[in-house]
Amino acid sequence: MLHIDTVIKQMKVGYTKPSLVECNDQRQYVMKCQNDVISGKTLFNELIGGRLLHLLQIPTPAFTLGRIYPQLTTDSPVLWSMRAKPGTVFLSSYTRGVSMINPILFKDITNREDLPGIVLFDQMTLNQDRGGNRGNWFVAQKSMELLAIDNSNIFRLADIWDSHTLHADMRIPPERIDFSQPGYQTIGTYFEGKHPFWKYGRLVKKVTDEEFTNLFVNIPLDWNISADDFAAAQQFIKFQFEHIDDIINELESDFKKGGRHNAR
Ligand SMILES: Nc1ncnc2c1ncn2[C@@H]1O[C@H](COP(=O)(O)OP(=O)(O)OP(=O)(O)O)[C@@H](O)[C@H]1O
Ligand SMILES: [Mg+2]
Repeated sequence: MLHIDTVIKQMKVGYTKPSLVECNDQRQYVMKCQNDVISGKTLFNELIGGRLLHLLQIPTPAFTLGRIYPQLTTDSPVLWSMRAKPGTVFLSSYTRGVSMINPILFKDITNREDLPGIVLFDQMTLNQDRGGNRGNWFVAQKSMELLAIDNSNIFRLADIWDSHTLHADMRIPPERIDFSQPGYQTIGTYFEGKHPFWKYGRLVKKVTDEEFTNLFVNIPLDWNISADDFAAAQQFIKFQFEHIDDIINELESDFKKGGRHNAR
């Protein structure tokens, strides 16, 4: 596993206090670690969300896990100021680009076909932090691809979800995310074809038992995810997979109505 050699700086934005770091492979990453505001559950959300994005072929920066040694949490002023905990961290490969939801710049995105996937991902995982957060739409400078970043708020309740909340969220029709938010309104205008979400329905149906199992393997023990919460997270994603047709039907009818949020 990689380890952090140097903390370069704290990123300009980010509730979780992400930092730009260099690892022992001499590459730069945006690192999320346990600290005074976030727990291992946020890192769990990042890892499961990242793996799920891969499975659905939705572009996101490459990611891996790494380790902060105890010495660095006292030597680095950035880590010291956020009371960073030593241990396993989430690393997203540093990519040049900008965060934005700007309708004019959106026109130049090279991967419009991926946009419905981001919406479906958010609805499936109950991601609460994209539609209204311009920071979580990231356009890579070179490729002009829109990348989905920041899975810290999947499972609806940031890092306070637990087995009870997830069991309550396993229902059809699903709890809806708010499509009236600016990010969704903007990308909705770029959807192509009558059934933009069905490609993902087909992908979900093709997921093998092994691929599903692999979403949840090798979760670091120092993230302290309880056995109940772990099982509930697996059951929740399984439930969403099994009900993918219902989820897509709801999404399609919402987008036909112009992205109106069905408040419940
Ligand atoms: N892999 C990356 N490469 C380059 N920049 C990144 C990368 N990951 C994140 N960033 C930048 O860092 C910012 C903060 O990251 P991120 O959104 O994951 O943190 P956060 O604390 O969960 O944010 P918030 O809660 O404010 O949405 C992003 O808005 C983006 O501009
Ligand atoms: Mg963010």
